[in-house]
Amino acid sequence: MEWTNEQRYRRIEDVAREELDALKMRVANCLWRQTFHIQPETGLLNDPNGFSYFNGEYHLFYQWFPLGPVHGLKYWYHMKSKDLVHWDNGRIGIEPKEYFESHGVYSGSALEYNGKLYLFYTGNTRDENWIRHPYQCMAVMDRQGKIAKFAEPVIRSVPAGYTDHFRDPKLWKQGDTFYAVIGAQRVNKTGCAVLYRSPDLTHWEFVGEIETGLQTFGFMWECPDYFELENNGILMFSPQGLQPEGDFYQNIYQSGYLMGEKINLETRCFIHGEFIELDRGFDFYAPQTMLDPNGRRLLVGWMGLPDIETPTSVNGWAHCLTLPRELSIKNNKLIQQPIPELQTLRTQKQEMEETLNNEIQAFNGFEGAVYELICEFHNKDADEFGIHLRVGEKEKTIIKFDWLNKKVVFDRSDSGEPVAAEYGTVRKCRLEAEKIKFHIFVDSSSVEIFVNDGEEVFTGRIFSKPESRKIQFFAIGGEARFKAMKWDY
Ligand code: FRU
Repeated sequence: MEWTNEQRYRRIEDVAREELDALKMRVANCLWRQTFHIQPETGLLNDPNGFSYFNGEYHLFYQWFPLGPVHGLKYWYHMKSKDLVHWDNGRIGIEPKEYFESHGVYSGSALEYNGKLYLFYTGNTRDENWIRHPYQCMAVMDRQGKIAKFAEPVIRSVPAGYTDHFRDPKLWKQGDTFYAVIGAQRVNKTGCAVLYRSPDLTHWEFVGEIETGLQTFGFMWECPDYFELENNGILMFSPQGLQPEGDFYQNIYQSGYLMGEKINLETRCFIHGEFIELDRGFDFYAPQTMLDPNGRRLLVGWMGLPDIETPTSVNGWAHCLTLPRELSIKNNKLIQQPIPELQTLRTQKQEMEETLNNEIQAFNGFEGAVYELICEFHNKDADEFGIHLRVGEKEKTIIKFDWLNKKVVFDRSDSGEPVAAEYGTVRKCRLEAEKIKFHIFVDSSSVEIFVNDGEEVFTGRIFSKPESRKIQFFAIGGEARFKAMKWDY
């Protein structure tokens, strides 16, 4: 169905109860509803926003269009959790009501200050000629969870040299000064990130562009995030407009980071290494990080991408968030590990150890549609080895290591209902390793694969039939030994 602008910019309060209830029913009956991921009750979810810890709880907001599986008038939907695993049902956090957000409360971040949580976001507006004008806006949440907006935006205009693609402020504090990075497009249609600073969260001064070595790297950088970890400076962002290069940049848009020295906040100079993609799978975008009270740097991403159709659309909803990941650094690269709190979801356990010799094997107890699986392979002389998941009569999802080419492969060609097949159905990533450990989280319609303790991660939605539940282990062209542990969730 084609959505008109009128339909996209309807407000949830203007929709009849019956219509919303009917939509909720359609969504609830969808066979691909997730069981342990954050997903919208109806409509479309995109970027994680305002990821923070405040008043004894984790807070996570997301971009939400309630009325259907398309990008329309965006709200911030608000969820809370004590452990990052069990989330409350949530409610609307920020709704687009004011003139400075007439066409959506767009992405942004949160920071605690003086006993309150400050929410810094982009107010998206369009005039009668559909020309965009972005405002950067502030709202404050108190300990009771009440959110009050500032009466006026704190940044009203785009500085000279940049287009109206200017959004997604990410806030932090250093010393007595507040800083924010904002995703921008230069007038020459290249992407970058700019820096602002403020003494009080109300008055903001444009400092200038972050001076990276990437002068022509896509046409827009969305959702920038800057943080420091183990004495490194890390600038994360989602560039649009990169061309595929070998196994890299295969999705419609990318997400990754530059790591280097800490940014000099006076000169804005950033000395860094090459751009590294955060996730080598199919569905990952607009990640956001936060520093938790235990000093952990945690990341959540959108398990989806802009401008991509998804099979759940027919049931009135689209997309979910990734599981939270904990970041650390090894060999000048970010390591991403699933947070240990997820272990509280584990129930029934199965274990298995076996040598495979040029064969595909299934084992008792190893099946399901919702589980966690850890599998370690030691190769002897196989050409490739791995796992088939969600195997049914005609379906399977392949995760394997191609020993000859030293590549991890995630193949969803036969997973089920196709998704974004025009961008390819196989993702690969080179990995120098003697041992391969796959740590896999399977939900009703997704797979997240952490390889070798988070050296690489592959995320992908899969739309298999509910009855496609078998798991198989295989080695081709020789022998490989494996050890597997599986927990139902
Ligand atoms: C990224 C993005 C952001 C924007 C938001 C709107 O997916 O395009 O740049 O703020 O989504 O929903």
